[in-house]
Amino acid sequence: MGSSEVAPHTEAIPAMPFTLEGKIALVTGAGRGIGRAIAKRLVGAGAAVMINDLDENMLLESEEELGRGEHVSHVTGDLTDPKVPEMIVQSTLAQFGAIDIIVNNAGYSWDNVIQKTTDEQFQAMLEIHLVTPFRILRAASGFVRESAKREIAASQLVMRKVVNITSIAGTDGNPGQAGYSAGKAGVIGLTKTLAKEWGRYNVNVNAVGFGLIGTRLVQPLTGVGAKMEMHGHEIRLGVQPAILDSVKNACPLGRLGTPEEAAGAVLFFCSPLSDYVTGEVLICGGGFHF
Ligand SMILES: NC(=O)c1ccc[n+]([C@@H]2O[C@H](COP(=O)([O-])OP(=O)(O)OC[C@H]3O[C@@H](n4cnc5c(N)ncnc54)[C@H](O)[C@@H]3O)[C@@H](O)[C@H]2O)c1
Repeated sequence: MGSSEVAPHTEAIPAMPFTLEGKIALVTGAGRGIGRAIAKRLVGAGAAVMINDLDENMLLESEEELGRGEHVSHVTGDLTDPKVPEMIVQSTLAQFGAIDIIVNNAGYSWDNVIQKTTDEQFQAMLEIHLVTPFRILRAASGFVRESAKREIAASQLVMRKVVNITSIAGTDGNPGQAGYSAGKAGVIGLTKTLAKEWGRYNVNVNAVGFGLIGTRLVQPLTGVGAKMEMHGHEIRLGVQPAILDSVKNACPLGRLGTPEEAAGAVLFFCSPLSDYVTGEVLICGGGFHF
């Protein structure tokens, strides 16, 4: 390969693996769990972060934990309201002037076997796991295209990052989760298509699929457990204790993952370490598959 074919940013050996100083990130569902841990990783790496959740109290708690004053801001809103994705993208641009990293993380599970799954329930899973990431990315597309055209005209190589959160329920299927699995499988199609549409704009579009990560979504389903209010429904969150035990037994690493470990896999796709990786699904599940 002649030296003229070598990309300029591969020539120097960086002293540090990377910094995200000067980058602007948007993380949905960052009021708790994995989303909060992702926001922490990004802030720790130097990025400014806009966080979103529908749960304002938890979002404010995240904001306080993240610190860093004007480098962190929040927009409260239910992403399944069709106006909210656009509003969040515009708020990020108004507040920080750019978007370099988008993590589509918000999600929940509303499970049942197919014969007990209503149309509303199935649609709700598609809405949050597939339609919402689509709307966020469509809302950001004008900024992404115009910025990339300017940068390319100025011979600057600026990589932007999209990370969509999926699940081994999406890659492998999981009984009781027809809607959730379909939404999580659908977002992989969106990821692979956007990788092809946005490669020319220097955007890496990837997905991280989690196995079982210790958040309220996988707490043992015993009497009390966590509930979530969604469009007038009270949804129980958690997993049958017997399933949790069998997962731990079948998992090569023998345990659930932590939100911080989950966020580590996402950080890779947000960082320059993944500049030549796009359209891929990284499974972060301790080696476990359904
Ligand atoms: N925990 C796991 O084992 C696991 C496994 C596979 C995939 N995932 C995925 O990881 C992501 C994060 O899950 P988690 O385990 O941290 O769950 P979590 O419940 O701890 O956090 C999810 C957050 O998303 C928010 N949210 C949900 N619907 C929203 C909406 N319509 N608008 C705005 N915010 C909304 C919730 O309020 C919550 O704060 C989800 O997409 C989930 O499906 C989790």
